[in-house]
Amino acid sequence: MSLFPGVALVTGAASGIGRATAVAFAAEGCTKIAICDRAADGLAETKRLIEGKQGDDGRKVEVEVVAGDVSREESVTNMVQTIVKRWGRIDYAVNCAGIQGPPKRSTEFELEEFDAINRVNYRGLWMCSRAELKQMMKQEPLQTHDGRPGNRGVIVHIASQLGIVSRTNAAAYCASKAAVISLTKSDAIDYSNDRIQVNCVCPGLVQTPMVQGPEQQKLFAPAVAIAPMDRMGEPEEIADACLFLCSSKATFVQGAALVVDGGYTIN
Ligand SMILES: NC(=O)c1ccc[n+]([C@@H]2O[C@H](COP(=O)([O-])OP(=O)(O)OC[C@H]3O[C@@H](n4cnc5c(N)ncnc54)[C@H](O)[C@@H]3O)[C@@H](O)[C@H]2O)c1
Repeated sequence: MSLFPGVALVTGAASGIGRATAVAFAAEGCTKIAICDRAADGLAETKRLIEGKQGDDGRKVEVEVVAGDVSREESVTNMVQTIVKRWGRIDYAVNCAGIQGPPKRSTEFELEEFDAINRVNYRGLWMCSRAELKQMMKQEPLQTHDGRPGNRGVIVHIASQLGIVSRTNAAAYCASKAAVISLTKSDAIDYSNDRIQVNCVCPGLVQTPMVQGPEQQKLFAPAVAIAPMDRMGEPEEIADACLFLCSSKATFVQGAALVVDGGYTIN
């Protein structure tokens, strides 16, 4: 039996960590995968990559593409309704959509720049989580790979190492990610009795378009050097952590902020 017999949803799936997570679900045997993002072209490429993973063992992977903006309530409602209409449930929800904002200190930040970050990273993620929780509460638990009674669903938020420690010129971003960690713990408490798991992953610096411009590489070089492993992570290494938390190998993990950062936050 696959570790992922249920339905997966990944937001921010048009690029970077979200794309790698959606593709990893397919590679690890999940056959019902919804990919959501506001970037339609990127979603089409992710769908192509997922479809490239099927066939190795005769499996057919079904992909639902939902273009939408996680900061808009109607998009979030549409996302969940579309998936439930097609497959009847959502078992693994990875909320990955996020933005970084300009590198400035708080006194140089405009209110609109602050709001833009929080509309996506915190408020948007909360709206996705709320809609996913509402759906998960209505569904029966999925059995685990070894026959134990499983849980009703798993939510994994993508926070950041910068929700735990801070860096210069990123106050609004760091605070938005700290909020995600706090939300994770609070919802983990509130939905444990419903047998829903809520965890988050805190990636270190990861090779994605978010950090790959020449400006960003200059900005982030000192941060890479702080991490004992002295390199950036690959999106697939974050996807692995997300899949572990979604899998039936992690049924007792609750409210965790799993740091995957090459050791950046050790010191
Ligand atoms: N790359 C890193 O070093 C790093 C480190 C820590 C945390 N993160 C977090 O990981 C997550 C993924 O980032 P990434 O590095 O893969 O970046 P990315 O830019 O490659 O991917 C982010 C995706 O989110 C989508 N998105 C942004 N706003 C959206 C919205 N309003 N509605 C729908 N989709 C939206 C984008 O279109 C994009 O496809 C983010 O939450 C980011 O904060 C990244």
